[in-house]
Amino acid sequence: MKDTATISNGTMVELIKVSKTYPPDIIALSNISLSIDVGEMFFVIGKSGAGKTTLLKLISNMEPPNSGLIEVAGHDFRRLRGARLAKLRQRIGVAYQDFKLLLDRTVSENISISMEVSYKQPSQIQKRVRSLLEQLQLSDKHDTITGELSRGEQQRITLARAVANSPALLLVDGPTGNLDAETTTRVMKLLNMANKSGATVVIATHDESIFRHSNRRIMELKRGRILSMQEVTPI
Ligand SMILES: Nc1ncnc2c1ncn2[C@@H]1O[C@H](COP(=O)(O)OP(=O)(O)OP(=O)(O)O)[C@@H](O)[C@H]1O
Ligand SMILES: [Mg+2]
Repeated sequence: MKDTATISNGTMVELIKVSKTYPPDIIALSNISLSIDVGEMFFVIGKSGAGKTTLLKLISNMEPPNSGLIEVAGHDFRRLRGARLAKLRQRIGVAYQDFKLLLDRTVSENISISMEVSYKQPSQIQKRVRSLLEQLQLSDKHDTITGELSRGEQQRITLARAVANSPALLLVDGPTGNLDAETTTRVMKLLNMANKSGATVVIATHDESIFRHSNRRIMELKRGRILSMQEVTPI
């Protein structure tokens, strides 16, 4: 089996004719074919209801497609079981649009989870948590119960948790929705750093400020279909 941790070139995400329908007959995605390279930062845009979150849920294997093929780092989730499936999941970091934080736990506990699951040293985990909180200007919230934070603060904790374990694939759903311009810049700095360190990053967003001048590929969805794909301009 290919080791997802050591893949350094090629395709990270491949979708071939993927469709997703929710009961009774809501077409969330229709016939999507898409390929995202290892090391890319890729934006998915489109109006509310266009299918952005659904796309990220299919790529992270949170939801199965109704038809079509999805491969992540060369693996078809449907063919993986047990330890191999767990290993691939550990290499994917997801910052959910609705956060999915443990609201009765502290901030540091929330950020530590993915690193604990992959048996990192406690001292290493503590160092990483403190560094991430500093980068996101939340150092004073280390021991705060997560449910007591503002939405913008919770959003940043969600992001810190997703990047903490240095995933090979980082899926980020609406990372700046509740943030001011300065905090948005900090969040994008963190995502760009993760990308520079080798993570493939897929960002679903409405926030033009983060993709307008990025010179990254931008895919626009409309009612579950690809409306346009803006390619990178060679310098
Ligand atoms: N669990 C579900 N059950 C039924 N319909 C759903 C479900 N999840 C999403 N949908 C529908 O699928 C379509 C795509 O939804 P999706 O959440 O992917 O949109 P989105 O582009 O992420 O929107 P937003 O910008 O508001 O986050 C919408 O019509 C939505 O109502
Ligand atoms: Mg969404």
